[in-house]
This record gives sequence, structure tokens and C-alpha cells, in this order.
Amino acid sequence: MAVRIAPSILTADFANLEAELARLRTADLIHVDVMDGHFVPNLTIGLPVVRRLVQVSPLPLDLHLMVSEPDRWAPQFAAAGAGSVTFHAEAAKAPVRLARELHAQGVGVGVAVNPATPVAAIADLIGEIDMILVMSVEPGFGAQPFIEHSLTKLSQARDLVKRSGRAIDIQVDGGADRNTVGPIARAGATVIVAGSAIFSAVDAAAEIAALRALANAGLEA
Ligand code: DX5
Ligand code: ZN
Repeated sequence: MAVRIAPSILTADFANLEAELARLRTADLIHVDVMDGHFVPNLTIGLPVVRRLVQVSPLPLDLHLMVSEPDRWAPQFAAAGAGSVTFHAEAAKAPVRLARELHAQGVGVGVAVNPATPVAAIADLIGEIDMILVMSVEPGFGAQPFIEHSLTKLSQARDLVKRSGRAIDIQVDGGADRNTVGPIARAGATVIVAGSAIFSAVDAAAEIAALRALANAGLEA
């Protein structure tokens, strides 16, 4: 199946978000990084902005919650109109209950693992989720270099998904660019988040097309 591209708006022009979203309409999903200044050393956007983005976005919003209290916040972001909500394995206190609560709200459920968290940490959640997010940088900021060991973790995630027999996406987030998307796709990612690579390009649509083509070529290599 073709790899999907999810531009992260973390490096977008925050004074012109509606126009920035319009530039991304040829992508597959819009990745929105919610940070609470506690789980990660950065603060980004919260519920009121997400509610408004839902109204103007040409594509479903894929929310990545980098917050210390996802059990409290994730259902509120689901209710805001997200297509999917991803919380961190390191932060959730009752991940099974939270995943079920989110599913009952009708959103896709993702669980993220930080670079130092083994994929095995979420093995027992596999029956409860729709997506595994492998962080390929320490979360908090865009434009960091890709951590090579993430390729091993993507393969481990792929094995876990295969064994489960379920249709579960594998997302990778951080440092994806023209050089890394081929190996990333080959290792098992089905959804690739890219922030700075797309927003530093003059033509965002052309960059999305290039990343998609290189990722799919990597699949066949
Ligand atoms: C980092 C965020 C990422 C980030 C990716 O904490 O979760 O989504 O925006 O940015 P790039 O693609 O520039 O590494
Ligand atoms: Zn993210």
C-alpha cells in the first residue's frame, strides 16, 4: 500500500494557518503537534486553535499530543473534531481505558514511543490501537536530525503489527526528508510526518509529491 504523507504544521507560519493548510491539500493528513511545556520543553497550540483548524482544514487532522496528562486532555481533543489522536506511552496512566474512550468518540487512536522507549513497551496495547508512532527525534522541536536507530524500531513495529493480524498504521515523526524517506518506508512506516522538509521548500506541493515518490520507491527497492 502507498505510503501516506502527513505534513507537520509545527514549522508553518502561525500567523497564517488557514493559508498554510491550503498549501498542503495534496497531502494525506495534517499532523498537529500539541505540546504542554511539561512533557516536552515547548508550548504550541491548544484546544481553541485546534477547534478552528478543524473548520478550515482541507484534510483530517492527526493530533500528536505531547502532554503529561493525555488521560485528561486526549478526549477533549477528540471532541474538537480530530480524525485521529495520538498520545504518548510514557505519559498515559490508563492507556487501555483511554484508547477505548477515544474509540467510543469515533476517532482513530495512536500510541507514540519516544526514541528511548522500546516498541515492546506497547505490545500489550496492540489490540486497542490504530497506529503506532515511532518518534525518530526527541519530541519538542522541528528540524532535528533523524535518529538512525528508529529504522530498527520501525521494523520491530512492523513485526508486532504483522503478528497481531490487525490493520495498524506505523507512523514516523522527526527528521524525514528526501534522504531518509526511502529507508523509512522500507523499514515499515506507512505514514510519514514531515515538517521542516515541506515548509523550507519553495513549493510545498512539489515537496509532498517528491517525498511520496521517494518513499514509495524505497518500498520497492
Ligand atoms: C517534534 C514533532 C514533529 C516535528 C517534525 O516534536 O512531533 O512533528 O514537527 O519536524 P521535522 O520534520 O522538521 O523533523
Ligand atoms: Zn509530531
